[in-house]
Amino acid sequence: MNVRTLTFALFTGSLGLAIAGCSNAPGKPKLEAASRPDEVLDFPTLYKQNCAGCHGEGGRHSAAISLANPVYLATAGFDNLQRITAAGVFDTLMPPFGRKAGGSLTDAQIAVLARGMINAWGRSGTPAGVTLLPYASQGKGNPAQGQRAFATFCASCHGSDGTGTKLKTGQQASIVDPAYLALVSDQGLRSMIIAGDPDLGMPDWRSDLTGANARPMTDQEVTDIVAWMASNRTSNPGQPYPQQPQSLK
Ligand code: HEC
Ligand code: HEC
Repeated sequence: MNVRTLTFALFTGSLGLAIAGCSNAPGKPKLEAASRPDEVLDFPTLYKQNCAGCHGEGGRHSAAISLANPVYLATAGFDNLQRITAAGVFDTLMPPFGRKAGGSLTDAQIAVLARGMINAWGRSGTPAGVTLLPYASQGKGNPAQGQRAFATFCASCHGSDGTGTKLKTGQQASIVDPAYLALVSDQGLRSMIIAGDPDLGMPDWRSDLTGANARPMTDQEVTDIVAWMASNRTSNPGQPYPQQPQSLK
């Protein structure tokens, strides 16, 4: 852009602002249909304003679980999506959005978000004839069995002890590091194992075993793997002292 077009752009830009300014002058009708935040009932807008920062534009490629995953959406279903969006996930970065829990969204807006995710990203669903695993675990997991199941289903990518995935950047990411485990709930781990992440190349519960070994994980195996991973949690992640040193008390 040369100086002249830049000047032109700046001029038309400020002209635009001036016009917008006029139309918002007191006494003039507002241009936008929904002016109050709780009147916004449009899924893309609600998602962008409230969720995209953590779950990614379009529900993918983000730090938190990818919501735009048909297997995840089919497993969680409308009721769980609505409940979690309203109440958040205790002890994690997932905040509560419902008004009862101190959030800013109305029940109607939360329903729009839950329905919107399913409609926008769940369409293709899971192939007919596939039985999904239950969203929540049905019983207690056995960490020792979980470690064995981890060796079968996860070690090829995450290392036999869970400390290494070879990332494209060449770095290793541990999924048993207490600092990681402190930020994620047991359900969060379960959701990730059941739904995988197609963008990252992480298979869903049907697993990437091939040949004679090919089979999906059972519900119990998923529960056991979560129990084994969770057994790596410490009460003071990232805290080098078992107790606060005397001098800081
Ligand atoms: C084919 C390779 C592959 C297999 C098999 C696999 N994963 Fe992953 N997984 C990945 C990749 C790639 C990522 C994203 C990079 C990362 O965060 O390490 C990932 C991410 C994860 C994450 C999220 C880490 C984060 O930082 O958010 C968890 C938890 C996880 N995997 C658990 C498992 C478990 C448990 C199993 C076995 C049931 C498993 N994975 C099997 C490739 C795999
Ligand atoms: C500040 C970051 C942040 C924001 C903003 C956020 N989330 Fe989350 N969300 C997370 C994290 C982290 C988790 C994983 C929590 C766990 O470990 O269980 C999560 C989990 C979830 C889950 C549950 C996943 C599962 O395991 O079933 C749903 C559903 C969800 N978020 C929906 C939303 C929606 C809808 C919005 C916007 C209204 C939103 N989130 C905004 C960080 C965020």
